[in-house]
Amino acid sequence: MISKKMRAMINSSSAIRAMFEEGKRMTALLGEDKVFDFSLGNPNIAPPPKVAEAIAKEVATDDAVFLHGYMSNAGYDDVRERIAAKLNADFGTGYRKEGVIMTVGAAGGLNVVLKALLDEGDEVIVLTPYFGEYRCYVSNFGGVLKEVATDADLMPDPDAIERAIGERTRAVIINTPNNPTGAVYGEKELRALAAALTRASARIGAPVYLISDEPYRELVYGGAVQPYVASFYPDTLTCYSYSKSLSLAGERIGYIAISPSARDYDDLCSACSVATRILGFVNAPSLMQRVVADCLDVKPDVEFYDRNRKAFQQVLDDAGLQYIEPRGAFYLFIKAPDGDEAKFCDAAKALGILIVPSSSFGVNGYARAAYCVSHDKIVRSKQAFAALAAQYK
Ligand SMILES: Cc1ncc(COP(=O)(O)O)c(C=O)c1O
Repeated sequence: MISKKMRAMINSSSAIRAMFEEGKRMTALLGEDKVFDFSLGNPNIAPPPKVAEAIAKEVATDDAVFLHGYMSNAGYDDVRERIAAKLNADFGTGYRKEGVIMTVGAAGGLNVVLKALLDEGDEVIVLTPYFGEYRCYVSNFGGVLKEVATDADLMPDPDAIERAIGERTRAVIINTPNNPTGAVYGEKELRALAAALTRASARIGAPVYLISDEPYRELVYGGAVQPYVASFYPDTLTCYSYSKSLSLAGERIGYIAISPSARDYDDLCSACSVATRILGFVNAPSLMQRVVADCLDVKPDVEFYDRNRKAFQQVLDDAGLQYIEPRGAFYLFIKAPDGDEAKFCDAAKALGILIVPSSSFGVNGYARAAYCVSHDKIVRSKQAFAALAAQYK
């Protein structure tokens, strides 16, 4: 018999993953050209050539024991050192090697951070709409998820966040550029958020940590840049991933960067290192640690996603469907014309379009489409979207 907690998790299992499995089933049944699977944020672009070169270089090492063996739970010292130096050069931060913990992607990093911070019953604030997996990650460690709505522009609402913070609040998770909305928080918003967290921390007499989940850090369009979140608030734990920027989602590699100004810094570094071990990761994949350290100067192909974004917006404009204009990441949040996202996604599925209902992200009335797919698939979906929209006219 499995645990009651796991039974509940299976029953409310990720709609995104379920949709992805459905996409594979439908493709096998109907053929690739009849299915428009926009369900999963799995980059449909090969890793930059430098990644393959780095893999070849690393596996040609004379010291295969070093390459494939265990190392410190937090990762190879030289890799952590190089990542800290790169962040410091790019963002003017003061990271030290001890504060960089190599992780099994951002998902692994978030679980490690939450394991490090939470006691049973502690609260974590998330901003709706949010990446639905946060629910499971927080509950994994007995935490209680508290949802706070973003404002009309999908930006953090500092007053609402401040009001929601109580004695048991340990952390606020933000994600910019955002999955599912494509929102990008600017300097003004991050400053206001930092001020609210500073006031709330003083009120409760304990640090409210900011967990910045940033796998889409570089994916911003129209010449804009994502301000570096940790620069605004001293108690920040940054969870980064190479899943999207280097198209390495299946390789499971990322890092946590703990701001040197964070309260209880030494404890945080030790706790994240031990959490990496006892959660069973032991350490992040060894070869990939070395590969990403060789690729620190490689930039993602933002142009590929921007071209897809524009094409997808055109498809939706032509169909007469409304959406939130994305400024970053690679998702479009499409409005369900009658506000019923479940019905909208079912109608889309009947036409071969797989999109995820916004209830997975803690809000109603929308569906999320991931445009990290082939350009051709977006262009070919035009008729199907037109037929979907026609059902609402
Ligand atoms: C907002 C957000 N956080 C975390 C993750 C997990 O990413 P990773 O593959 O690095 O674990 C994703 C993946 O899609 C995501 O969208």
